[in-house]
Formats: sequence, structure tokens, C-alpha cells
Amino acid sequence: MAVMEVFNYLYERTAETLRPRATGSSKEVGETVVKTIKMLVQRFAVALAWLSSLSQAATFEQQCAQFSSQLQLDNATVWFSEFVAAGTNLTLSQNNVTCARPSQVVEVDLCRVALYVATSNRSGISMEAWLPKNWTGRFLSTGNGGISGCIQYEDLAYTTSLGFSTVGANNGHNGTGGHAFLDNPDVVTDFGWRSIHTNVVVGKQISQAFYGKPHTKSYYLGCSTGGRQGMKSAQAFPDDFDGIVAGSPAIRFNGLDSWSGNFYPTIRDAGPEGFPPNTTWAAIDAAILAQCGTGAVGDAPDGFLENPDLCHFRPEALVCPTLSANVSSCISGAQADTIRAIFSPLYGVNGSLVYPQMQVGPGILEAIYAIYGKAQFPYTADWFRYAVYNDPNYDIDHLTPKDWAYAERLNAGETNTFDGDLSPFQSKGGKLLTYHGQADPIISSANSPTYYDLVSRTMDLPSTALDDFYRFFRVSGMGHCSGGPGATFIGNVGAAVASLDPDQNVLMAMVRWVEQGTAPDTILGTKFVNDTASLGVDFQRAHCRYPFRNVYVGGGGENATTDAWKDPANWVCQ
Ligand SMILES: *[C@@H]1O[C@H](CO)[C@@H](O)[C@H](O)[C@H]1NC(C)=O
Ligand SMILES: *[C@@H]1O[C@H](CO)[C@@H](O)[C@H](O)[C@H]1NC(C)=O
Ligand SMILES: *[C@@H]1O[C@H](CO)[C@@H](O)[C@H](O)[C@H]1NC(C)=O
Ligand SMILES: *[C@@H]1O[C@H](CO)[C@@H](O)[C@H](O)[C@H]1NC(C)=O
Ligand SMILES: *[C@@H]1O[C@H](CO)[C@@H](O)[C@H](O)[C@H]1NC(C)=O
Ligand SMILES: *[C@@H]1O[C@H](CO)[C@@H](O)[C@H](O)[C@H]1NC(C)=O
Ligand SMILES: *[C@@H]1O[C@H](CO)[C@@H](O)[C@H](O)[C@H]1NC(C)=O
Ligand SMILES: *[C@@H]1O[C@H](CO)[C@@H](O)[C@H](O)[C@H]1NC(C)=O
Ligand SMILES: *[C@@H]1O[C@H](CO)[C@@H](O)[C@H](O)[C@H]1NC(C)=O
Ligand SMILES: *[C@@H]1O[C@H](CO)[C@@H](O)[C@H](O)[C@H]1NC(C)=O
Ligand SMILES: *[C@@H]1O[C@H](CO)[C@@H](O)[C@H](O)[C@H]1NC(C)=O
Repeated sequence: MAVMEVFNYLYERTAETLRPRATGSSKEVGETVVKTIKMLVQRFAVALAWLSSLSQAATFEQQCAQFSSQLQLDNATVWFSEFVAAGTNLTLSQNNVTCARPSQVVEVDLCRVALYVATSNRSGISMEAWLPKNWTGRFLSTGNGGISGCIQYEDLAYTTSLGFSTVGANNGHNGTGGHAFLDNPDVVTDFGWRSIHTNVVVGKQISQAFYGKPHTKSYYLGCSTGGRQGMKSAQAFPDDFDGIVAGSPAIRFNGLDSWSGNFYPTIRDAGPEGFPPNTTWAAIDAAILAQCGTGAVGDAPDGFLENPDLCHFRPEALVCPTLSANVSSCISGAQADTIRAIFSPLYGVNGSLVYPQMQVGPGILEAIYAIYGKAQFPYTADWFRYAVYNDPNYDIDHLTPKDWAYAERLNAGETNTFDGDLSPFQSKGGKLLTYHGQADPIISSANSPTYYDLVSRTMDLPSTALDDFYRFFRVSGMGHCSGGPGATFIGNVGAAVASLDPDQNVLMAMVRWVEQGTAPDTILGTKFVNDTASLGVDFQRAHCRYPFRNVYVGGGGENATTDAWKDPANWVCQ
């Protein structure tokens, strides 16, 4: 059809061009013939380009449709390959309902490949490769979250929109729970490291088979458990990636589960009298800001802490002067005691550190109550029952320091991910960028510096040397992986992109670092008015890399303009 259309068009246009002109003088006729030939040559060129683009389009779709039958991979069953046109709203009816991802809008033309890869004779991963038509030559793997079990389709959509050939796997089991760990340590091993590694090894083969050439550079983007998977790759699989972006990493994983599992018993045992009621939360948040806020901007504090690690919140400041005092502005001594317990590090047997403190900040107490207040944290429950003790009836409501120590020693699936030696990754030229929201109620931001410092001690390197391959950014006012009152749009997920400028986007910063050698000194985060881009920028802040901290240097006190704190120029990394 397309070919006939082109020839008909050319025939019509040529006949039309020649017909009226052929009646002039011989000179005119000669000029006309020369012009006409030039025109024809041009038209053939245009038509050929059009034809070629048509046939390429056909080729991409056909190539994609045929790809599943041509793909030869060890230990793999290819389920399907299908062309997905830009703008398609994919229905993910096969996806486990607990993953809460029933559909995904795909932003660019791509070839979607789905397969199963056995990782042992009793375990395996479901994975997908999304291969964009407009490929940059870059490969990328996404990660997972919690103790799932869920391909993060939104991350596949985001990174393919930027031209990466992208893979994502189900981490060895389906759904958000950990029941699949029961009686099957191989599924735990998949969760610990094997799913992400297998999906990268196989994914690179798929990408090469599809495009007919290997990728140029390999990247990783993930947060939370995805952050842990990125750190695991840096620690144990130095050849998997050239650049790793690992957010809010769930490293020191057993300690994390013990710590998050300790909030419920703390709140339960404090009883309704011992935990500050919700009527007091506003007063507690105000006291936290008064004691630990920047204090630099008069009546217009930014409403979150830039440096919660410097905050030694003293809840006793809120203890009621008399028992009958206004209970919405003050608390009891017992309640102050609970607040101190919540914001203290967790120590275990023999005084060993299980996990650092929950960072202090406005909104944290409320979040703790919502997340951990009413029942044991589900990830802790599933981890201890199915992965640590292999006992579905284990009493997860009364875990003790002995349980914490046992989990740590067992290190099921090698999930702990707290090896301070990154020298193989450093030697091969890998780059690691981590970030952590400073208002994260799920994985305390106090943990990430402890790993950075461990690497510094283990490798005998000061931060000036670590800067060559490992940079860690503290993002103030960011909750768990995204959201929060701070300037949190840093391009780590598709829903938080203010710009593709590498100065403002952690993924593009990593691409620039790997491919041009320019490392990011700061990451400029953006806060939109009401978190809505169309309403414009509310404020921006340049987040510093550890161990630098952001210090307010703008005008203060009586002369401060109310918006002085919104200007990134009024802050410096010290
Ligand atoms: C995609 O389709 C689902 C239903 O299958 C719908 O709920 C969702 O809103 C759609 N998304 C968009 C962006 O249209
Ligand atoms: C996991 O989900 C995929 C679809 O996403 C499905 O094909 C596969 O059978 C599921 N595996 C198990 C063990 O349920
Ligand atoms: C395929 O699986 C077998 C058995 O689990 C394993 O020994 C082999 O290394 C796997 N092959 C690849 C390429 O991973
Ligand atoms: C699975 O492989 C293990 C060795 O990794 C072997 O001991 C076991 O017998 C195999 N089980 C089956 C059912 O093949
Ligand atoms: C292809 O990607 C490049 C960037 O890598 C972009 O500049 C270009 O507009 C894209 N083309 C299409 C047709 O999407
Ligand atoms: C879906 O996930 C839940 C939670 O992990 C799990 O209990 C259930 O078995 C899964 N369903 C299927 C069909 O795999
Ligand atoms: C406090 O909790 C009570 C009881 O659950 C609820 O009715 C009330 O709306 C909450 N108030 C606030 C300010 O959250
Ligand atoms: C109690 O304290 C709150 C918060 O400071 C204040 O808004 C309220 O007016 C006070 N109520 C009384 C009866 O003093
Ligand atoms: C605690 O210390 C005792 C005595 O030194 C030692 O036997 C025990 O193994 C230690 N426990 C742990 C979990 O380190
Ligand atoms: C932002 O949201 C607040 C509260 O929902 C609302 O009062 C305000 O009008 C919104 N601002 C804009 C510019 O839409
Ligand atoms: C505020 O401005 C006045 C007048 O310019 C000046 O005298 C005063 O020192 C300023 N105060 C501060 C804290 O900068």
C-alpha cells in the first residue's frame, strides 16, 4: 500500500509539473527540464526517507512481535513480546492484586517482553524488559519495595521515556507479602540478591538480542528495598552497573526489621495514657520546630528540619505544669518518656546497636502512630515468621533482643547489605549516588550516614576520596522516597520530576557522572505550589552531599523577608 501510494503521488506530481511548462521557448523548456529533474530528485529523496521510516516502523513492530519466538535464554520461559504504542494505558490483569498496580500508562513506543527465569529447581523470577524504539544505548534495571514481590511498572515507564532499555523483576515472588519465603530459602535468596542480579544478567542479553548490539552503559534506579538492591549490587556485583542511584536504602536489613517491629510493642505497652494523644501532636511538632528549626526566618519557618541529626529534642519542655492543665498544649511525664524511647537508637544484647534512632521532625510522631500503632508492622511480621524462623505461628508481637540478635546472625538470604568494602566497585570505575529523605518515617535517615562512615573506615578513605565514586545526599523535608514538605522533586521517580537537567535530576546526574565524569556536588530539589507543577515553583533548595550540611545564611531576624528561606542562594553547604 505505502509503496503504491508513493509512486502514484510521484507520477501525478511529475505529470502536473511537466504538462503546462512544455509549451514555452526551447530555453524555457530546457530550464524547466533541469528544474523538473532537480525537483524529481528531491521528491524521490523525500519519498525514500518516508518509505524508509514506514518500513522501520513496520520493522520495529514486526521485530517485536517475532522476538519472543527467536529469543534463546538459559533457564527461561519467554511468555510474550508485544509492541506497545506511546500513550497506551496497559492493563496489568496478571499482576497480583496486592501490588496495587492494575494499569500503567506507557509514554513511548516500545517492545514489551515478559518471561520467567528459574533461579533454582524451586524458585524463579518473573521479569519484564521494556525496549524503547528510540533507544539511547543505555541499559537500566529498576528495583522493588518492602518485602514485595511487585514489578514497579511506573519506574519502567519513567526510564523508558528517557530512552533506557529497562528491566524489572518480581523479586522472586508475587505480591506484597512474604508468605512465599516459608519452607523455601531459595525464595529468600532471590529476595536478598538473586532476583536483581539475575534480572540484570538476563536483561542485558535480551537488550543485546533485540537491538543487535550491546548496551553502552548500565544503570540502576531504585528506592527503599530498591535502594538496598542497588547497594547490594555495589557491594557484591560490581560488574552489574556503571552507575547506581539508590534511595532510602533498606540496608542493615535485619536491624531495620527489628527496629520497625519495636514501635508496636512500645506503643502497646505505653497504653492509651502513655502515648501522646493526637490532640497534642500539633504542640509537639511546634516544640520540635522551636527547639531545632533553623530559627533564621522569623515567623515563617519552612516547617521541616534541615538537620534532624543535630536535633536533641527535649520533650520535657512540654510537660504540663499541673494535672488539670490544657491537655492539647502539654503532655504527661510518661508520654515524654515514650517520645524519648521512639527517638532513641535501639540497642540489643550486650549493648550492640540494632538500628539508629528515628530522626526527629514534625509529623513523625503522627506517622509512627499511623504506621506502627495498631498492629505489628507487616514486613517485620512476615520477615520473622517466614524468612527468619520459618514458623507461621511465631509470636511476632513479643520479639526480644534475642530475636533481633538471631536474625542478625542468621542473615537470611544475605539480605543485610551492610558490607563496607566497595573497592571492587570503585576499581572498575562504578559510581554510586544515594539519597535519603530527612523526614522518612519508614527507614530512618539516621541509618545512611552510619553506612557511609563504615565505608570510610573500612576502605580507609576520607570523604574527599569517597567523592570519586560514592556520594550521599540528604534531602530535607522528604518522606519515604518521595513527598513531604521539602524540595523533594529530584527526578528519582517519574512522579517527582521537575527537570531533566542533571543538576536537578538524580538519574540524569548519574548519567552525566558516568559518561562525562562530572559528579554532582548538590542536587537542586523543587517544591511546586501544592505539589502541582502547573501552579509554579514554590521554592527550591540545593541538597548537600554528606558530610556537608545545609546552613541558612540569608538575612534573619527582624529584617528577614518572609520568603528569604525559599531562595536556594540563602543556603550554603558547610
Ligand atoms: C488506565 O486504565 C485504568 C482502568 O483500566 C483506569 O483506572 C486509569 O485511570 C487509566 N489511566 C489513565 C491515565 O487514563
Ligand atoms: C506471578 O505473576 C505472574 C504474572 O505477573 C504470573 O504469570 C506467575 O504465574 C505468578 N507466579 C506465581 C508463583 O503465582
Ligand atoms: C540454569 O540453571 C541451572 C540450575 O539451576 C544453573 O546451574 C545454571 O547456572 C543456570 N544457567 C544460567 C545461564 O544461569
Ligand atoms: C534441587 O536441587 C538441589 C540441589 O541444589 C537438590 O539437592 C534437590 O534434590 C533438587 N530437587 C529436585 C526436586 O530436583
Ligand atoms: C529520541 O531521544 C532523543 C534523546 O535521546 C530525543 O532528543 C528525541 O527527541 C527522541 N525522538 C523521538 C522521536 O522521540
Ligand atoms: C498475591 O500476593 C499475596 C500477598 O503476598 C499472596 O498472599 C497471594 O498468594 C498472591 N496471589 C497470587 C495468586 O500469587
Ligand atoms: C484523634 O483521634 C480520634 C479518635 O480516633 C479521632 O476521632 C479524631 O478525629 C482524631 N483527631 C485528630 C486531630 O486527628
Ligand atoms: C489549649 O491549647 C491550645 C493549643 O495551644 C489552644 O489553641 C487552646 O485555645 C487552649 N485551650 C484552652 C482552654 O486554654
Ligand atoms: C554477648 O556477650 C556474651 C559474653 O561475652 C557472649 O557469650 C554472647 O555471645 C554475646 N551475644 C551476642 C549476641 O553477641
Ligand atoms: C493550595 O492548597 C490550599 C489548601 O488545599 C488552598 O487553600 C490553596 O488555594 C491552594 N493554592 C493554589 C494556588 O491553588
Ligand atoms: C535591620 O535593619 C536595620 C536598618 O537597616 C539595621 O540597623 C539592623 O542592624 C538590621 N538588623 C539585622 C538583625 O540585620
